[in-house]
Amino acid sequence: MIVLLGISGGIAAYKAPEIVRAFQRRTYQVACALTPDAARFVSPMVLRTLTGGQVLDDLFAAEETGIGHITFADRADVMVVAPATAQTIARLAHGFADEPVSLSFLAATCPRIIFPAMNSNMWQQAPVQQNVALLRERGHTVIDPDSGELACGWTGPGRLPDPERIVREVAALLAGSGRLSGRRVLITAGPTREFIDPVRFLSNPSTGKMGFALAEAARDAGAQVVLVHGPVTMSPPDGVEAVAVVSAEDMSAAVERRILEDEPPDVFIGAAAVADYTPADRSPSKLKKDQPLDAIPLQRTPDILATVSASGRVPVCIGFAAETNDVIDNAREKLSRKGLALVIANQVGTADAGFAHDHNEVHLVSKDSVVSLPRASKADLARTIISTIADLVDNVA
Ligand code: CTP
Repeated sequence: MIVLLGISGGIAAYKAPEIVRAFQRRTYQVACALTPDAARFVSPMVLRTLTGGQVLDDLFAAEETGIGHITFADRADVMVVAPATAQTIARLAHGFADEPVSLSFLAATCPRIIFPAMNSNMWQQAPVQQNVALLRERGHTVIDPDSGELACGWTGPGRLPDPERIVREVAALLAGSGRLSGRRVLITAGPTREFIDPVRFLSNPSTGKMGFALAEAARDAGAQVVLVHGPVTMSPPDGVEAVAVVSAEDMSAAVERRILEDEPPDVFIGAAAVADYTPADRSPSKLKKDQPLDAIPLQRTPDILATVSASGRVPVCIGFAAETNDVIDNAREKLSRKGLALVIANQVGTADAGFAHDHNEVHLVSKDSVVSLPRASKADLARTIISTIADLVDNVA
């Protein structure tokens, strides 16, 4: 997902690098366009460093021979103008195209979202309000500024919302037109811990990265997402309902509760690395090392994915298969044994993909096909997987 951030020349432009970072934390790629005045408030060099050189600040620069403004505008999935000054709002409303922000705005066909920021009196003046109304009439989104203390010393409406809120508003705008809009998606992620005594447990190296990336991608596609996750170090994504659990049994109970609700999920994705076995008895006190312990008796944990699928309450059930060998055959076997619409299979045991890595290489195995996705970041894979899942949901509906 590529965001083109148009920055205009008001004092709030100093927040632009923070806005870029906030989008990047949500795994968006960011390019920037600056008005000449914006470049006096915020250093294009800082933005170049943060975006890997994706900055358009001079229409007559030598590198502009590639018609950068058109390329930027074409590639963008959304254009965000923040801050938008009264002057820039007027330019956008009246079709000016004499500097990078208004030119990109005019060349873009993606959704555009504008965050005005200025002195309260300026914001309330008729010309500004009329220009805002004109932009809204044309289908662009204009977010009213926050109220509060302004850089000019006034208190009132005119503040640029904080970067996290800007990102949330943009994500919500994109989600509204998303392919899973109105759908419920339940995801399990991360490892489980099966305690032997209060200080020792059986677990696995899962970090939850893939499940969390899927939760973000499903949310960005407009779904209402519940993420039931085992112990992980990541914070849950914004806009996703997170339920933290510890053991396979807890995870199973949390999932069952959601499945039995009046409106069960449309999609279940079992991305968790659920422990298959748990100690048959958990010692209530710490086992001492000189206490003889030859074996730890184990018992099977509930198979959460198989139970959800067998309940018949979730139309599209998706599983993961982490295999060291015969990846596709094992995935096919899992697909039919658990009655799934799709298995996402990957090879584990290699040095640079799978558990705990940011990248992975997976195969999407369904009844009739195997689609092998090239090695990519988990965020990119998650978007592709969610789009495949959206196809499956459309076919069921
Ligand atoms: N799964 C689950 N509950 C369990 C075990 C696994 O929901 N108790 C889910 C995982 O989230 C994953 C899929 O089932 O989506 C993995 O299938 P599984 O058959 O458990 O894989 P393995 O543990 O690798 O099984 P096997 O040893 O048979 O290959």
